[in-house]
Amino acid sequence: MKITIFGTGYVGLVTGACLAEVGNDVLCVDIDAQKINRLNAGEIPIHEPGLEELVSNNREAGRLAFTTDIQAGVAHGLFQFLAVGTPPDEDGSADLQHVLAAASEIGGRMNEYKIVVLKSTVPVGTADKVRKAIGDAVAKRGLKHEFDVVSNPEFLKEGAAVEDFMRPDRIIIGTDNPRTTELLRVLYAPFNRNHERLVVMDNRSAELTKYAANTMLATKISLMNELANLAERLGADIERVRVGIGSDPRIGFSFIYPGCGYGGSCFPKDVQALQRIAADAGYDADLIRAVEAVNNRQKQRLFEKVHAHFNGDLAGKTLALWGLAFKPNTDDMRCAPSRPLMEALWAAGASVQAYDPAAMDEARRLYGERDALQLFDSPEAALEGADALAVVTEWNVFRSPDFRTIKAALTSPVIFDGRNIYDPQLLEGEGITYYGIGRSRGGAS
Ligand SMILES: NC(=O)c1ccc[n+]([C@@H]2O[C@H](COP(=O)([O-])OP(=O)(O)OC[C@H]3O[C@@H](n4cnc5c(N)ncnc54)[C@H](O)[C@@H]3O)[C@@H](O)[C@H]2O)c1
Repeated sequence: MKITIFGTGYVGLVTGACLAEVGNDVLCVDIDAQKINRLNAGEIPIHEPGLEELVSNNREAGRLAFTTDIQAGVAHGLFQFLAVGTPPDEDGSADLQHVLAAASEIGGRMNEYKIVVLKSTVPVGTADKVRKAIGDAVAKRGLKHEFDVVSNPEFLKEGAAVEDFMRPDRIIIGTDNPRTTELLRVLYAPFNRNHERLVVMDNRSAELTKYAANTMLATKISLMNELANLAERLGADIERVRVGIGSDPRIGFSFIYPGCGYGGSCFPKDVQALQRIAADAGYDADLIRAVEAVNNRQKQRLFEKVHAHFNGDLAGKTLALWGLAFKPNTDDMRCAPSRPLMEALWAAGASVQAYDPAAMDEARRLYGERDALQLFDSPEAALEGADALAVVTEWNVFRSPDFRTIKAALTSPVIFDGRNIYDPQLLEGEGITYYGIGRSRGGAS
């Protein structure tokens, strides 16, 4: 099948590469000429396991190409995927300008039936707006062309995006048109072999499903963080509590890890956008608001612990920081908890020596190297001469370090474990002061 993808970010590039991998003829369009040039030069602009090989194999096989030529993109695919960004607007609502611009581009150029597939995360009612934008652009040309708009939200996880796309839990298809459903069923058949994964519904329910999924997951995290803060005050260990509740199959073990807050390009913006959607619908969404507020507060917890440990005197102190990305296996630092921590440390006069297995370039792009931010090419190098270590992202490489090396490198042996990956008792035994999240053992404040 011929497919065009608008937007070659995390979602568009993965979608394009995976659809090409199963034999489709895919053209990816982006307005960012630099990104397209890099892709055409064989470079992958993002860190995503397995993606580089997939892109290069399919480019070589002639099934995947990149362009800034919108006309060529509209002409190419029966399916026109929209995977452009929907960043938060000033009031927290999803900014639809890229989605609607791409829709108008399609309407302004299409000359035959098209199926427009909305992969971007968009507020309820956006499919109607996209339908209108395309219809208006077609009508402006004095033409009448048939088209369908399908809501097909994406659930891939950064860091496991290729795997998630190839083996999805579910494929949500939002449309009222049975013919379009059948065409999408054929398109997704290679990803739907083991058991039925297609869940067909109307556009609005499909749009809300995406926000519901992310808000549900964010709620689990914020609730655990709330309980972690309570555990600290009550002398309990949240890790014991986690195991105690996770063994209940109604609760389960996934997404109940306490930590220094959720980040990334999706949870923060989608939870915020759902609040706006609720407000616009005249509904006061107390719980959703609280999920965001708890998370914002949680992102300050590590700094508060560092601040308290050094009795408020952070001027001239140096913190080694392990992990800049918002989670392991990605270079994405959008809304990453490392950022408020570093910014608070700088404001207090401290400096940071950081290491991340994938996000160093992104940190350089965001902040530039400076006296207060030095980037090192190994976890050990980042420790040298630092006063303390903070672990912000639970990359595998940080999970089982040599604590004696850490102790020898730090001027005062103290670890702030923002992901509870270490055993407080073990560290106590090594003579290292330990602060976790929600753990009363090991001197947690
Ligand atoms: N990143 C994720 O893990 C994830 C997961 C599920 C859903 N989503 C949703 O998917 C959408 C895309 O997210 P992303 O992380 O891939 O974004 P991104 O910012 O990485 O990429 C978006 C791309 O769209 C391009 N673009 C903007 N306007 C365009 C236009 N008119 N024509 C062509 N290209 C255009 C931009 O240049 C950019 O390269 C968002 O709505 C997001 O919420 C993201």
